[in-house]
Amino acid sequence: MKKRVLVSGGAGYIGSHVSVELINSGYDIVVADNMSNCDLTCFEGVKKITGREDIPFVKMDFCDMEAVNRLFDEYRIDAVIHFAAFKAVGESVAKPVLYYKNNLSSFLNVLEAAMGHGGCNVLFSSSATVYGEAEKLPVTEQSPRLPATSPYGNTKQICEDILRDTVKAESSIKGIALRYFNPIGAHPSALIGELPRGVPNNLVPFITQTAIGKRERLSIFGNDYPTPDGTCLRDYIDIVDLAKAHVAAVRRMLDGKMKKDYEIFNIGTGRPVSVAELVHSFEKVNGVKLNYAYVDRRPGDVTAIWADTALANEELGWKAERSVDETLESAWAWEKHLAGKE
Ligand code: UD1
Repeated sequence: MKKRVLVSGGAGYIGSHVSVELINSGYDIVVADNMSNCDLTCFEGVKKITGREDIPFVKMDFCDMEAVNRLFDEYRIDAVIHFAAFKAVGESVAKPVLYYKNNLSSFLNVLEAAMGHGGCNVLFSSSATVYGEAEKLPVTEQSPRLPATSPYGNTKQICEDILRDTVKAESSIKGIALRYFNPIGAHPSALIGELPRGVPNNLVPFITQTAIGKRERLSIFGNDYPTPDGTCLRDYIDIVDLAKAHVAAVRRMLDGKMKKDYEIFNIGTGRPVSVAELVHSFEKVNGVKLNYAYVDRRPGDVTAIWADTALANEELGWKAERSVDETLESAWAWEKHLAGKE
C-alpha cells in the first residue's frame, strides 16, 4: 500500500513544490491549509503538474485541535511535513503573541494528534535563522544555535526543541528537522511559485516584482558589510532542489533508515552568493535591467550565512543540483506567468 504524507500548509510556496515531488515519487498525500496566507493558485498548479485531479485537500486550521484529530481520524497518515506557520520576521516582532500562539500550538496539535493515533514520522520545517550570526562558516548541524533575534526565529528553535523532547519521550514519534537556507525560484513549469501578499519581504520576489514594474525600485540593504562586495552573503537554494530534500527525508523515515530518532539536516547549496551578485545574475540571465539602489542595512540581518551540506549529501543521498542562474530564470518565468493572468 502506498504511504500517505500529510502536508500541513501544503497550499503555500514550499508546501506546493514538496507536494509535487512527493506525488512524483509515488506517495499519496493529503494537503491541509487554512489559506491564511495564500489562495488556491499553487494547489491548482500542483494538480496540473502532476495530472492528479484527486489530491485530497482539507481547508482547516492546525490551531483547531478537533479539526486536527478529525484529519488523523479520516486518513491513515504515515508521515507529516509541517509547514503551517506564520513566516514574516518583521510582523513577528510587532505581534509576538500571535506568532507564538499560532506557530507553537499548531505544531503541538500535530504532535498530540499523531500520538493519539498510534504515532507518526514528523518532519519539521526549520530555518538557518537558528544559527544567527555564526562565528564559523559554513555552519554545520553542530554549530551552536544563537539566541533568536525575532519571535519568528524563536518559534523555529522552540519547535525543534519540542520535537526533540517528544521523540525522546514517545517511541511512536520519530522526527527530522530540515534547516532551510534561502529558498528561491519556482517550478520549471511556471505553474507554481512564491506568491507574496502585499510588499515582499524577501529578496527574489522583490527583484521579480521590480523587473515586471510592480515595484519602482529594489533597495539593497547595506553595501558596507565585511564581505567581498560589501553586500550580505546567503546560500540561495532552488525550491525544487529543496522540495526533493523533503522526499529524501520522508523516505529515510518511512524506510526505517534513521540513525537516531531525531535528526537535523542543513538544506542548502554550500555556496555563498552576495546580494549584488544575485541581482546582477538576474539581470544577465533574464536580459532585464533592474532599477536598484544601495540603502542602509536592514536591522536584524546577519552578514553572512551558508551551509555545510555534507551531512545531508551523505545521509539523505541528496544534493542541490540547479544552478543559481537556472533558478533565477524560473523565478522570472513565474513572475511573467502571474502577470499574464492579471
Ligand atoms: C529571512 C529570515 C529567515 C527566513 C527567510 C525566509 C531574517 C533575519 N531572516 O532570511 O528567518 O527563514 O527570510 O526566506 O529576517 N535584501 C535586500 N533587499 C530586499 C530584500 C532583501 O537587499 O528588498 C537582502 C537582505 O538584506 C539579505 C538578502 O537580501 O541580505 C536576503 O534577504 P531575505 O530574502 O529577506 O532572506 P533572509 O533575511 O536571509
